Amino acid sequence: MEYFEELLKKPSLFLDESRLDMNYIPDNLPHREKELSLLSQLFLTLLTNPNSISRKILITGKTGIGKTVTVKIFGDILKKASAKRNICVKYVHVNCRKERTSYKVLIKIIRLINKKFPKRGYSPQDLLENLIEFLNKQNIHILIVLDELSYLINKGEDLIYLLTRINDDAANVQQRVSIIGIVRDLSCLNNLDFSTISTLQRNIIKFSNYSKKQIFDILEYRAQLSLKENVISKDLIKMIVESTYGNGDIRYGLNIIWKAAKIAEGRDLPFINNECVRLGSQELVPFSTLDVLKYMASQKLFFLLAIVKGLEISKMTEISFLEIMKRYNIICENLGLKPRSNSQLWNYLQEFKRESIVLINILSEKIKGRRALIQIPEINLLKLEKIIIEILKLKGINI
Ligand SMILES: Nc1ncnc2c1ncn2[C@@H]1O[C@H](COP(=O)(O)OP(=O)(O)O)[C@@H](O)[C@H]1O
Ligand SMILES: [Mg+2]
Repeated sequence: MEYFEELLKKPSLFLDESRLDMNYIPDNLPHREKELSLLSQLFLTLLTNPNSISRKILITGKTGIGKTVTVKIFGDILKKASAKRNICVKYVHVNCRKERTSYKVLIKIIRLINKKFPKRGYSPQDLLENLIEFLNKQNIHILIVLDELSYLINKGEDLIYLLTRINDDAANVQQRVSIIGIVRDLSCLNNLDFSTISTLQRNIIKFSNYSKKQIFDILEYRAQLSLKENVISKDLIKMIVESTYGNGDIRYGLNIIWKAAKIAEGRDLPFINNECVRLGSQELVPFSTLDVLKYMASQKLFFLLAIVKGLEISKMTEISFLEIMKRYNIICENLGLKPRSNSQLWNYLQEFKRESIVLINILSEKIKGRRALIQIPEINLLKLEKIIIEILKLKGINI
């Protein structure tokens, strides 16, 4: 009955496992120095000439390449620099995916700067006016970060419209609000009205994907922070870089390191070996893929399911477009749905490729009878199938 005692007697391989957590904010951000410096330049006027302008910035880039963490660290830098000069700048980071509605986002912003604010009884317009009044009274400039902004846009809500227009037409008034929006790609903006788009598009910072070398540096740094010395070798980190590079999501690599270390501990090893990394990488589905799947149209999910099932059943690493079509038609038939056209499915395939889910090996490009072999190299098929079926179930479709 001494389970804990036994476990505690074992030497741990971790220095601090929370430093591999995706929400942990490290002291350094290798390879994002340029972005931090650019943000500082853009917001310098908040310090040199407080409340004279309202900056609106849009940040774009794939999932897991450090957008959130970079902006959070920038927020810290800004807070410190303004406090040093006795300028009151507040930084509020809101995740729109978590808050879901404009109302909740606004309440979150207001309560972060004014804890006493009541939770109910105001319209969004009221809330906004209340916010500005409070900022004016206390002489505060607020930098609002709307992370994963696309989740608000898709709902056709007007918060972005309101926020981007605060003080828009008033000359010589104090500018109290600056905004950083974070989106994966710019296509989600299409649903906004023209003038909001043009306001937001004035300053875009595109975060580029990390190269293999950069991913190596980042993972090595995070491993150094979290694991004891010599627990993981450079070669093993390289191996993890290889599995991370495909979709580029650093969280994927962090997760493999964590799992591999846990497996090594479970086996009483003094360090992580090859086998631990292999096992640790096996059952993970990249977070970016999960994200993509959650918002994928049902028809596309059916088609992806056809690929997964086809690969599973044939036990081959590749499957032909023709073979996938057969499986797809069966799925549609079972559900009583009209299958999509060949060219539509071909487009889906191209999208899967862009989303780093499949690899396509094209044998011939003739429109009739396109010959191509399709692979799903990175993701465990059984796991992927389960996830697709679960997502469809949430949409009320039972396969
Ligand atoms: N340059 C970097 N140095 C250290 N850790 C990083 C770096 N870039 C990303 N990370 C880590 O990778 C994970 C994903 O980053 P995140 O900012 O959440 O990505 P995004 O917002 O672009 O999806 C986080 O845990 C973050 O701490
Ligand atoms: Mg993020």
